[in-house]
Amino acid sequence: MRRVLVIDDERKMRRVLQILLEKMGLQSIAAESGEEALAIFSESKVDLVLTDLRLPGIDGVAVLQRLREMDSDVPVILLTAHATVQTAVDAMKLGAFDYLLKPFDVQAVEGVIRNALEMRRQRTENRFLREQLGLDVGFESIIGTAPPMRAIFELIQQIAPTKTSVLITGETGTGKELVARAIHNLSPRRDKLFVPLNCAAIPADLLESELFGHTRGAFTGAQAERTGKFEVADGGTLFLDEIGDMAYALQAKLLRVLQEEVIERIGSNKSVKVDVRVVSSTNRDLATNMREGRFREDLFYRLNVFHLHLPPLRERRSDIGALAASFVADFGEELGKGALTLAADVVPHLEQYEWPGNVRELRNLMERAAVLCDGKEVSLPLVRLLLPVVSANDPAESTSNGFRLDSAVEEVERKLILRVLGTTNDNKAEAARLLGVSERTLWYKLKRYGL
Ligand SMILES: Nc1ncnc2c1ncn2[C@@H]1O[C@H](COP(=O)(O)OP(=O)(O)OP(=O)(O)O)[C@@H](O)[C@H]1O
Ligand SMILES: [Mg+2]
Repeated sequence: MRRVLVIDDERKMRRVLQILLEKMGLQSIAAESGEEALAIFSESKVDLVLTDLRLPGIDGVAVLQRLREMDSDVPVILLTAHATVQTAVDAMKLGAFDYLLKPFDVQAVEGVIRNALEMRRQRTENRFLREQLGLDVGFESIIGTAPPMRAIFELIQQIAPTKTSVLITGETGTGKELVARAIHNLSPRRDKLFVPLNCAAIPADLLESELFGHTRGAFTGAQAERTGKFEVADGGTLFLDEIGDMAYALQAKLLRVLQEEVIERIGSNKSVKVDVRVVSSTNRDLATNMREGRFREDLFYRLNVFHLHLPPLRERRSDIGALAASFVADFGEELGKGALTLAADVVPHLEQYEWPGNVRELRNLMERAAVLCDGKEVSLPLVRLLLPVVSANDPAESTSNGFRLDSAVEEVERKLILRVLGTTNDNKAEAARLLGVSERTLWYKLKRYGL
């Protein structure tokens, strides 16, 4: 049963509110002052607070501030007389859920209470879901309950405490950097730095000094001394992103550093001992690079002591719903629209798409949906509008089921239908016309493909 804490110095007012709450099927506790209320709050579970603004000791705004410090989530509704509307408005800025003017209208009070409790319920549920959904590491939570993700979480937990080098592979947007951060956050190195370095983004000749640093005047343009990432990451974790793009010559130098755990700044012959855990990642096929002589085999074995492969999103479709829901809720909050949700038919639709950009693409889509959404719920037509037009021209490339003609044809059919429905804003009659089939045929196909 949900419990509401009522704070008012007037006995009559407390009674009126308690009776109202009881009628709404809620439990209530009353306090005469802010001090008493805070004492009660710290000892028992409270889902909502109704407080008078003007109180004998600390006032309603101070109560609100103290509550925010103790529990950032509990909704607080302020009760106030006409004269103090401005204060109430200020209180809203401090995070009050709403305020009610005295003398108040019972229906209005009921409505506000219900809304506040609903918000509370959703927040608690979201938090609970997040904890259930995957791996929570500090500020980062990795969502995933599909079997391959569970296996990865288990591996992360096993390797995190060690100093083993880890190579993370997977297509773009599958969460390689997120996993690298998780490994760091779960390791004894978490109080030292996690230093990411994108080997593809930096020109080859600068990458070396980026890694190892240089002395002043070491080469033309080296006007000041520079500390390399290896030194910055000392005691922590160095994340070598896109390692597959590192120039061959530099690979040898990196290997030596990894073996000896000692670096020399360019232009200096002083050795500096470093204690760095190296996590690297690539979305390239290093085996091919090695065969073609573009990646050193000895470095590969050094980096790949432990290998984590993140599967593409289309191979763990059961995670799409949870990911989408979490992203859209977060973006909604960020945009000040509250936790947005997805209409029931959205997830099955998202699960059909191939997601070439994986989780990042899904996240971006949900961001755009949150921006454009004008209610509390993201609808299927909106999502259709935002999903990229799926190319139906090249079945030989797009089919995920080998070379079977029937599945290729089905796939093209499904994509075309989706695309046309997107452009007709879900108008089936119009879509059937564009596709050159009867409406009945279209209905049949929709059912068959679960669209
Ligand atoms: N399982 C997940 N749960 C929650 N968010 C995720 C998950 N996987 C990826 N993301 C999010 O998706 C985005 C892309 O992830 P990330 O940057 O780690 O991908 P990446 O594999 O490093 O991609 P690239 O190869 O393009 O660099 C990030 O915003 C990340 O937070
Ligand atoms: Mg990345």
